Amino acid sequence: VTRLHVIVASTRPGRVGRTIAEWFVARAERSGDFDDVRLVDLAEVGLPFLDEPDHPSSGRYVHAHTRRWSASVAAADAFALVTPEYNSGAPAPLKNALDFLYREWHDKPVGFVSYGGSAAGTHAVHMLLPVLRVLRMVPVKAAVALPLRRVLDADGVLHPDQSMEDAAAALLRDLARLASALAPLRAAEAAYSASR
Ligand SMILES: Cc1cc2nc3c(=O)[nH]c(=O)nc-3n(C[C@H](O)[C@H](O)[C@H](O)COP(=O)(O)O)c2cc1C
Repeated sequence: VTRLHVIVASTRPGRVGRTIAEWFVARAERSGDFDDVRLVDLAEVGLPFLDEPDHPSSGRYVHAHTRRWSASVAAADAFALVTPEYNSGAPAPLKNALDFLYREWHDKPVGFVSYGGSAAGTHAVHMLLPVLRVLRMVPVKAAVALPLRRVLDADGVLHPDQSMEDAAAALLRDLARLASALAPLRAAEAAYSASR
């Protein structure tokens, strides 16, 4: 079973992120690229600011919320991060959620569905890429980048156009290809860790 987690990065009331994530989840389910697609909303995950005493690479977690988050991320084979840019940077809840864990992110493909004004959220993407590299994730080139003025009406209803659909299809395909290619590597790493 290959599982895609679509993570909603913004947590404020009235956010657009959830609407965009729901569109992408429906698109992912239709595509059949993954056996299972799950919407993971950081507003529902409800993590506090990182409050673990040990470095996440230790895997020693004292809090139940960390263990729940660890189990969620460990269960995924690929991630789509649905993110706005706040003051040209990544939203704090997303950076915090990434920092909480370590090995759970390793050797998994990650792609972006970003959105915003003229830069369509891409400043946040560029800020996050070095972070993802340290977490040993594998960012894919394909991306969905949405200028909100073009795709969202005054009532907050999303109007996906063909270029959006095409970009989503390319992103899903890239994530699925990498998820299959990386699965044997992750299995080998798990066997190696277990043998030591
Ligand atoms: C704190 C804050 C900072 C923002 N900074 C930017 C920005 O730097 N660039 C941009 O394109 N939009 C910016 N926006 C506008 C967002 O693109 C827009 O509000 C979007 O709906 C935010 O995503 P969300 O609704 O999922 O929170 C900002 C919005 C907020 C709330």
